[in-house]
Amino acid sequence: LKINKVAKKTRDFVQKMKETDKTIIFFYGSQTGTSEDYAARLAKEGTQRYNLKTMTADLEDYDMNLLDTLPSDHLAVFVLATYGEGEPTDNAVEFWEHMVAGEDVPEFSVGDYEDAEKPLTNVHYVMFGLGNKTYEHYNSVCRRVDEKLLKLGATRIAERGEGDDDGSLEEDFLSWKDDMWKAVCDFLGIDFLAGNSGPRQATYKIQEHTAEEVEELKKIYYGEHQEPKFMLGSRPTYDSKNPYAAPISASRDLFSATADRHCLHMEVDVAGSGITYQAVPTTYRTIFRNYIDITAPPSRAFIGQLTPFAPTEEANKTLALWGQDKEAFRINVADARRSLGTVLEKILGAGQTMEIPFDLLIESVPRLQTRYYSISSSAKAHPTSIHLTAVILNYKPDVAPDEIVYGLATNFLHNCHAHINKAGAIEPKYEITGPKGTYLLGENGIKVPVHVRHSNFKLPRNSALPIVMIGPGTGVAPFRGFVQDRAHDVKNGKKVGATVLFFGCRREEEDYLYKDEWPELMKDIEGAQIITALSRQPGQPKTYVQHRMNEYKELIWDLIHKQGGYFYVCGDAKNMAREVNHKLIEIAMTCGEMSEEKATTYVKELRGRGRYEEDVWS
Ligand code: 2AM
Repeated sequence: LKINKVAKKTRDFVQKMKETDKTIIFFYGSQTGTSEDYAARLAKEGTQRYNLKTMTADLEDYDMNLLDTLPSDHLAVFVLATYGEGEPTDNAVEFWEHMVAGEDVPEFSVGDYEDAEKPLTNVHYVMFGLGNKTYEHYNSVCRRVDEKLLKLGATRIAERGEGDDDGSLEEDFLSWKDDMWKAVCDFLGIDFLAGNSGPRQATYKIQEHTAEEVEELKKIYYGEHQEPKFMLGSRPTYDSKNPYAAPISASRDLFSATADRHCLHMEVDVAGSGITYQAVPTTYRTIFRNYIDITAPPSRAFIGQLTPFAPTEEANKTLALWGQDKEAFRINVADARRSLGTVLEKILGAGQTMEIPFDLLIESVPRLQTRYYSISSSAKAHPTSIHLTAVILNYKPDVAPDEIVYGLATNFLHNCHAHINKAGAIEPKYEITGPKGTYLLGENGIKVPVHVRHSNFKLPRNSALPIVMIGPGTGVAPFRGFVQDRAHDVKNGKKVGATVLFFGCRREEEDYLYKDEWPELMKDIEGAQIITALSRQPGQPKTYVQHRMNEYKELIWDLIHKQGGYFYVCGDAKNMAREVNHKLIEIAMTCGEMSEEKATTYVKELRGRGRYEEDVWS
């Protein structure tokens, strides 16, 4: 076994600058590579022309919380692209969220400043933005980051530059950078004109190499795509940043007899690379089990297309009706949430069958979709396991009260649950029979395909800020994670603000989720409490979370308004989240003595600043 040690890259750019003796760092927020290219060009120009010690840095590779530790005789240059509707590039999302979308004063590493509102007074920087004027939010990322840096006490030592990709990006860049370099030279005490004078020096020379030198030279990166295996030592997976260097095995021009127009046919050889693209043989069973959603109601068009395959005149008539008449389709298919199988059962008589061409079927039945659930654990408390809190969806549709509709994913999970619990636990192993034979749970047993999606619904970076969470029903899921997180922070000596959870359920003894866990989780967090709203508790009035918010309005106002806390809502979008929003407006009116209009704007602004976050579904 060969173990390849890959040196862990440091995320501390200040440390790296010190180690490599650099004074200017060029950060880039780049999507397609233009900003990255500009940053590289600037860094190179700085080195070659002005003899500066420069480095470039992908924003995603470094910990931007350390920006406050940049020495005041060093310089940070930001080259930031704005994407789409005023969004940062993927590699700048974290930086963006930290600086702009987070608290008014984001948390930095030192945390001990003369002026707590201005943690970045030692930071000197330069800013260039890349945007496109055809979009409404032209260059808004660089503008807003710039504004924020200034607000936090940093000093911009040159005019901000902005380039328009729709017009003259390159021109904008070139005309900005000369003045910028002058300011940079002034700042660093370097003679700007000295750098500008004289021709460039050719520093390379042609020479013969010894055999040893030739070996050494093989390790040099020449800019072309080398076999990455060579660098990493492990089998690579190829992607856009790490492509496979494929030999060209054939190439010809498909256009003949034209000198100025060409259309190439080219073949690249991927043999031995592990890259595959061919259709892989599979089974009908696999397709039905794992790829298409056979429980989804078929579309009206699809039902219409089935008529030629109807085995009887009667079935043909019904299919034609449901396929044409919107109302008949709604009642019999859409609102009844009938799957294709159920629809056909309704239409065909006992013992009748109907043959549908397979290609029509896979064209028409939708692909199985990912279902997203709120994670109910904290990565700090459970770094290697992800917890899920899911209510199993079963209901009787109004239009077909004798039938039961089973939610696909939650019932799949419910079946997994049943298997596991029949065995008592994952150990001792429970046998289940699948398409590939019998296997044991806990070994190759039931697996749930998962991936984790980026989410904005997260705790404030500064744990000392108070939070108010509204999570009735399974809406409590993310808040279990939040509370675990904060309990973990307390254990690790961090200051943690008030942590208030409003939870709603029907009856204390029936659906009070994690009832036994809350006291233990909350016991060490100062000002932590759970406030419950029971909606069907015998002998008690029907109470919802928003009713209890009313009782605690002074507390909520104090935590959110006076202490600058964060407000979170999770659960039903249609009624609950709307009513909670309205309740908060009411609280702003009574406790903050605002007019309705002012209170509405106030709550809207909380949302705009990322201090009112929702994770809701309908
Ligand atoms: P109910 O079903 O008794 O009406 C979790 O589902 C909890 O949320 C239940 O106690 C449920 O009460 C309650 N709930 C239902 N509608 C709500 C609403 N509009 N606002 C707040 N809570 C609601």
